[in-house]
Amino acid sequence: MKKLQKIPYHIAIIMDGNGRWATKRGLPRNYGHKEGINAIERIVLACLNFDIKYCSFFAFSTENWKRSSDEINGIFDLIREYLLKEDNIFLKNQIKVESIGVLEPFPKDLVEALVDLKEKTKNFNKLTVVFALNYGGRDDIVRAVNKFLNENKKDITEKEFLLALDTKDIPEPDIVLRTSGEMRISNFMLYQMAYSELFFPKIYWPDFNEKHLYKILKKYQKRNRRFGGIK
Ligand code: IPE
Ligand code: IPE
Ligand code: MG
Repeated sequence: MKKLQKIPYHIAIIMDGNGRWATKRGLPRNYGHKEGINAIERIVLACLNFDIKYCSFFAFSTENWKRSSDEINGIFDLIREYLLKEDNIFLKNQIKVESIGVLEPFPKDLVEALVDLKEKTKNFNKLTVVFALNYGGRDDIVRAVNKFLNENKKDITEKEFLLALDTKDIPEPDIVLRTSGEMRISNFMLYQMAYSELFFPKIYWPDFNEKHLYKILKKYQKRNRRFGGIK
């Protein structure tokens, strides 16, 4: 793969299509989620390879609680197992782990595993991987507003508002991509993606690989980001 000139600083991924990937094969939906974890591993390594500094993964939305408890618990089991893996990709490659979203409703041991991994990787800076868990763009905004209300703040600036969001330490995404062919945002980083370049590859998440990402990065080279100006 040829070296590219313009490398995005932050890519944010709406991992979609796990269920359909499994159903197409006559398998239960959770097999798709299991394969989805392998895709995360591939794309994290690809980000290192392409020298992308931040990669966010939308793993569980504030609306995903509507699914069956079987599916939800299956997803939790996979996340827990992934975070607890001994020889994990994050420690091995000096990758910092962060999360956005409200962790309270998750099982305690899952939260502990995540907090532990965040703590162990907090000084790493090769790449930051952000997991969005029980995350909703609207919820993020409303929680930020409530913080200001609780402090009796008036007349806040956009900058202050950005710093009140879960993504306060994370730059706005240059690329937001959603797999599976679905062309919607489904309540991901609503405020943060004001000027993100959007891509909707027609590939189910478990099949997504470094080559697919490279294709998107190649297309990104040709995008003319004007931010409202003239270029
Ligand atoms: C994305 O895949 C993973 C999560 C939302 C947790 P889906 O489970 O939404 O897969 P589809 O969209 O039903 O195929
Ligand atoms: C978005 O996918 C949420 C995640 C990828 C975690 P969904 O599959 O939940 O979105 P909808 O329901 O198709 O909009
Ligand atoms: Mg879906």
